[in-house]
Amino acid sequence: MTTVPHVPRTEGFRALVDDLGICFGGDYNPEQWPRDVWLEDADLMVQAGVNLVTIGVFSWSRLEPSPGERDFAWLDEVLDLLHARGIAVDLASPTASPPPWLGVQHPETLPVDRDGVRLVAGSRNQFTPASRVYREHALAITTDLARRYADHPAVRMWHVGNEYGQLDFGDEAAREFRSWLRDKYGTIEALNAAWGTTVWAQGYRAFDEVLPPRRMPYLVNPAQSLDFRRYSSDQLLAVYREQRDAIRAVGATQPITTNFMEFFVHADYWAWAPEVDVIANDHYIDHSSPTAASDAALVHDLMRSLGGGRPWVLMEHAVSSVSWRPHNLPKSPAQTRLDSLQAVARGADAICFFQWRQARSGAERFHSAMLPHAGADTDVFRSVTALGADLRRLRDVADGRVEASVAVLFDWSSWWAGEEPARPTERLETLAQVQRWHRELWRRGVAVDLVRPGADLSAYRVVLVPHSYVLEPDAAASLSAAVRAGASLVVGPFSGVADANAAILPGRSPALLRDVLGVSGEEWVGLPDAPTALEIAPEWTTGRAAAAGLPTAGILGERLRAEGADVLARFAAGHLAGAPAVTRHHAGEGTAWYLGAIVSDDVLGAVLGDALEAVDVRGVVLDLPDDVEAVRRGAALFLLNHGSTERIVTAAGRWRDLLSDAPLEDAVAIGPGDAVVLTDRP
Ligand code: GAL
Repeated sequence: MTTVPHVPRTEGFRALVDDLGICFGGDYNPEQWPRDVWLEDADLMVQAGVNLVTIGVFSWSRLEPSPGERDFAWLDEVLDLLHARGIAVDLASPTASPPPWLGVQHPETLPVDRDGVRLVAGSRNQFTPASRVYREHALAITTDLARRYADHPAVRMWHVGNEYGQLDFGDEAAREFRSWLRDKYGTIEALNAAWGTTVWAQGYRAFDEVLPPRRMPYLVNPAQSLDFRRYSSDQLLAVYREQRDAIRAVGATQPITTNFMEFFVHADYWAWAPEVDVIANDHYIDHSSPTAASDAALVHDLMRSLGGGRPWVLMEHAVSSVSWRPHNLPKSPAQTRLDSLQAVARGADAICFFQWRQARSGAERFHSAMLPHAGADTDVFRSVTALGADLRRLRDVADGRVEASVAVLFDWSSWWAGEEPARPTERLETLAQVQRWHRELWRRGVAVDLVRPGADLSAYRVVLVPHSYVLEPDAAASLSAAVRAGASLVVGPFSGVADANAAILPGRSPALLRDVLGVSGEEWVGLPDAPTALEIAPEWTTGRAAAAGLPTAGILGERLRAEGADVLARFAAGHLAGAPAVTRHHAGEGTAWYLGAIVSDDVLGAVLGDALEAVDVRGVVLDLPDDVEAVRRGAALFLLNHGSTERIVTAAGRWRDLLSDAPLEDAVAIGPGDAVVLTDRP
């Protein structure tokens, strides 16, 4: 069967924002409430400025109380009511939580964990994407829902399932995994070669002998594990796609999406992104982390990048506390406002929450909501209403683009393969490194896009590879070509180690980047717990300035040999004493740096600063004070103060703050936790 590539229908979301301005609202679960509450909800939504709600995510057992039965009457009423109040609906296929009868009648629809335990109803997500029976039932209810509401004027978007992400190791999964492997490899000999099954006598005679990586006596073959992760993401995507196609098939023309989950490890969002009409993300920022603000900025940059720079939807975030962490701290209204404005700054054109009305029953009874148990006469509801008003003031920002000259390479296969156990160290975490590197740019006010390996890099003057364990020849070639054409490239340690099958590339490493980096390595070693001192070369001036903080390396190092590169820093002690740790190489019109260790922040900052300066890339505001995030989106300049004291930002020119409407000239004071959105338009 040939599959026709999906062409995202991006115009539908744009038309929605043209009509409504920045969308504002949240998940609404009317099936949990009696009819008189619906009326109050609709009135309070209008009062709060809500213009978009997601309905029906967990309503399957209400829509199909017993097999084949349909009860749409309540939903008809809710949609009509919301439409009468001018509130648009993002209507969900209810397929994330099948009714209990499905698992009772068809136990094979239930997922099985790595230990062989079959999971049951009573929570949610109790389905395996590999089950044909689940998929048939999910398609049937989705088709009927779409047929009934495709032309309903309230419905402006479709939301397929919810947070696709589970793994399944049962017999259904084994069957589908084998079929995926057959498609990929064709013959069992090809699979054996790709997986290196001569190690530990794993040679298979037939695909039917291959299993998902269930509980095993010892370490799993990393290539088997990598393919299972790829299969699992693809299998979920297949379930999403068939429901999306069913909605389209009955004539629905609204944009269709599903909600992503930040940097979620079980779904390769580069593969998913072209399959949705608008990128949507669920984002539960943990403000107990000291790096919460920059980490959130990185997630927003990923979402914008997944959509090729187009505006995206913050589908869920929390008004105050969540209820699923062991200890749940509240968010202040100011923090929630700042979180929301940060998302808008980085490309969101919709700010939505989980959820509209706080649940009385069920597992999420203590999760915050726009309308708390205590009702509308609450600080939370008043702050929600104020946020709605702020977002209306930002109408002109909608559809604006964030232009970035810096690209950060990020790849799910690398993340998966690079974090398999049995490496020189398990302390090297891909995402933590990406966060560190991104933070250096965030604090300088430099915009960053994320790119997948092999992406067109021609728009970028700086390309960063914090940690890309797997590197394929075309991706390596495009990095080298970017440098030769004039870009700055910075590559972090333990990159370009393995091929697409997670097998180590032979020879000195990183084999495919050796020429452009002018350096190569011969061993990777875990570094001792105590930081290893680095010695900065006298001629590396920025390095020397940064070294005031004592330059060190930790976690992992490589024994490098310069092959044309300048050595900017060396290991001063330990197993690698005397070996290069930081190098720089001019190649063609550009420059390539290599870090042969996880270096301390001062050294990382100095290298990245040099890489920016070499191609004259600067932040959007000069001399940006600490804690202030600066982002240019279209004609607007967002300044967000994440700190606890007032900050003054010098910004030459005459401005108007869209939030307060105040005119400003050359400098702006921003209170703690506050934000301004400047425009130079009258
Ligand atoms: C999300 C989910 C919502 C709700 C929320 C609570 O993962 O999509 O339905 O459970 O978390 O934080």
